[in-house]
Amino acid sequence: MEYLTYKTLHIISIAALVVSLGFIIGGCWIGGKNALRKWGFITHGISWILVFVTAFKLVGVLGMHENFPNWAQAKTACWILLGLVAFAIKKKPKFVAIHYGVILILSSVAIGLAVLKPSF
Ligand code: HEM
Repeated sequence: MEYLTYKTLHIISIAALVVSLGFIIGGCWIGGKNALRKWGFITHGISWILVFVTAFKLVGVLGMHENFPNWAQAKTACWILLGLVAFAIKKKPKFVAIHYGVILILSSVAIGLAVLKPSF
């Protein structure tokens, strides 16, 4: 029950994180200080933290903390990069296609790692 609750919250947090990055792309594209940009950054910060909290609740529930697997380490790297991409969008707001591709690739890799759990 605990496991399913944290997994559901983990996936909801990921959805919120990806939506917030869309807001940031739109807000930074418009330029200047605007509500889309502001709420994008606020929701990005909150959802980014929530992805981490729910992830490590899952790690605890599954007893993975003693032998933290490589796939989970790689997911942690994806999570860090999904945080940094917000700053990349702010710096280069016109590189929309690149940001879109990077976000899609990072989230796809993280999802693939969670589902397939490859050993490497
Ligand atoms: C802080 C980094 C992260 C850690 C340590 C982590 C860890 C975990 C763990 C332990 C599970 C449960 C696996 C299981 O059910 O056996 C899980 C599930 C999942 N994670 Fe993460 N996660 C992280 C970040 C992410 C990110 C950034 C994404 C996607 C953008 C993501 C997508 C998913 C998905 C879709 C599932 C459900 C997989 C399934 O039901 O088979 N995670 N994660």
